[in-house]
Amino acid sequence: MSTDNPQLDAQGNLKHFLTIDGLSRDLLIEILDKAEGFLGVAQQAVKKVPLCRGKVIANLFFENSTRTRTTFELAAKRLSADVLNLNISTSATAKGETILDTLRNLEAMHVDMFVVRHASSGTAHFMARHADPHVSIINAGDGRHSHPTQGMLDMFTIRRHKGDFSRLRVAIVGDILHSRVARSQILALKTLGAAEVRVIAPRTLLPTRAEEAFGVSVHHDLREGVRDADVIIMLRIQRERMNSALLPSEHEYFRLFGLTEERLATAKPDAIVMHPGPINRGIEIDSQVADGRRSVILEQVSNGIAVRMAVMSMCIGTQNLNAQGAGEVYA
Ligand code: CP
Repeated sequence: MSTDNPQLDAQGNLKHFLTIDGLSRDLLIEILDKAEGFLGVAQQAVKKVPLCRGKVIANLFFENSTRTRTTFELAAKRLSADVLNLNISTSATAKGETILDTLRNLEAMHVDMFVVRHASSGTAHFMARHADPHVSIINAGDGRHSHPTQGMLDMFTIRRHKGDFSRLRVAIVGDILHSRVARSQILALKTLGAAEVRVIAPRTLLPTRAEEAFGVSVHHDLREGVRDADVIIMLRIQRERMNSALLPSEHEYFRLFGLTEERLATAKPDAIVMHPGPINRGIEIDSQVADGRRSVILEQVSNGIAVRMAVMSMCIGTQNLNAQGAGEVYA
């Protein structure tokens, strides 16, 4: 089989994980099923499996992170890999070293996989294009473009609560314009066959022609937007990506688009509330909702470890296949 998707090897196996765009439903289901198998590792006395033993995984976070960086590190350690965490603020990046030179130098230390977060869209794709043939690149968030493991851990969390996607009505609320998470979630939901995906936002926080671009319905009224929804995903207001005043004030934003118990009343009684984090209490979500019985926000964090183990082990499996031939994976 030949493929022109830069994330897949010639046999169609996952080699890099850069975006959900262009991945098949079967491949997304494979990630979710593998992650299901990894959930139990957290309950073992020794929280480790040997799938990436002898491999070296480097975390390169050029942007701040709490959840993604630590869950990637834990996932790599649970797969028995050796983990390098490059501290970007004290690295040679601060002296002007290019990302390509950083890549080359770490490749010279026989790093097998890079997990990269960067403020510029396309950074992970760029690294994948220039990496040594045996090296895998995992996108941990690039600009406004993509955050594919976040998208997949959100799908995993939804599937564990709701099962089949085909009857689901999902509402995504907030700063769609700047959100790489929303882009990955929408792509994954459409690929997995969700019945309806809605986005709810002020006009200033929506991309132009969002309906056509994303294949979603657009709402500007929160109560109407979450009506009969099975899943409500709240997004953070990304002030760091705004280069003009797109909101009158945070107080005004909360008044119109903040999720409160009262506004949640139009959703289905068993609707779940999600948020990729970090949450801004009192801006996009009320504490009562964030900490309430319908919130699965901390489950999303836990599930991130299993989903990242799945993605990393699949990419390493492809490296092993290509190095040794089929049938000797994880030898
Ligand atoms: N969801 C998410 O990307 O969180 P962090 O910025 O803490 O990694």
